[in-house]
Amino acid sequence: MTKQRKGIILAGGTGSRLHPATITVSKQLMPVFDKPMIYYPLSVLVQAGIQDILMITTPHDQAQFKKLLGDGKAWGLNIEWAVQPSPDGLAQALIIAEDFLDGAPSALILGDNLFFGSGFAKTIKRSVKDTGGATVFGFHVKNPSDYGVVGFDKDMNAISLVEKPENPASNYAVTGLYFYDEHAPKYAKTVTPSARGELEITALNEIYLNRSELRVELLDEGTTWLDTGTHRSLLAAAQFVAVMEDRQGIRICCPEVESFRQGWLTKDELLTLAEPLKKSGYGNYLAKVAESEH
Ligand code: TTP
Repeated sequence: MTKQRKGIILAGGTGSRLHPATITVSKQLMPVFDKPMIYYPLSVLVQAGIQDILMITTPHDQAQFKKLLGDGKAWGLNIEWAVQPSPDGLAQALIIAEDFLDGAPSALILGDNLFFGSGFAKTIKRSVKDTGGATVFGFHVKNPSDYGVVGFDKDMNAISLVEKPENPASNYAVTGLYFYDEHAPKYAKTVTPSARGELEITALNEIYLNRSELRVELLDEGTTWLDTGTHRSLLAAAQFVAVMEDRQGIRICCPEVESFRQGWLTKDELLTLAEPLKKSGYGNYLAKVAESEH
């Protein structure tokens, strides 16, 4: 029987494009408007129904992440911890996570990715149930050369994956969320470092593509995918969240709320989490959800 899918959040890296802001603080602990960046990918995994999560950080940032998230129990989650000693590439996450996964399929998400939209929520809830192979999510962007790009045949079957191509085969970038079957750690170990010295996630995805085991789900126009790696993109993400929240009077991508909606937190537990956060308004929103949605 296939084991329950487990989550991995990769939140190491150097954040050098955000220096000096990220010299002493991990990029993924920086705020995106009203909450730490790491809340956004965490809320995606919770929304997908994933309760067992491995957090991978740099060795020196881990204490601060632990102060924020602990073992996850207060949020109805089970969070375990690992370190990536140096930023040797995204595919290394699967090797680091091998013992944690213990033969389970996985969902890997990058700590600086923000996804939002009702179409997206439906897509991941469907994809999380896929068995066998891998699923990646394609998103239409203006500047595909900055990303891993997927090429298609005339029937829109994925036929190529290229990391940061000079001549992109399409405008579809591969986003920082990847679903893998139980074989991913084994395949990741066969990946050799690229010219820039990294174990590339594109190389791991290519292994699935060459086995005809790669699904590419295209995210619809109503979905927002933002990364937050530069000063401009971080500001744009913060403005996006502020506009959504101010206009609608809601908060988006709150892991505690998603956990409550999964039934992993009771009304009283959510109210307890809300109490110390009321001065910022975040707690008021948690309390409102606890009172109105139970
Ligand atoms: P990047 O934005 O490619 O790298 P970075 O965060 O180190 O930033 P910069 O390019 O400004 O130096 O990484 C994308 C995400 O993946 C980000 O959340 C950090 C994470 N990451 C790791 O945890 N380990 C790695 O080896 C790499 C390459 C990235």
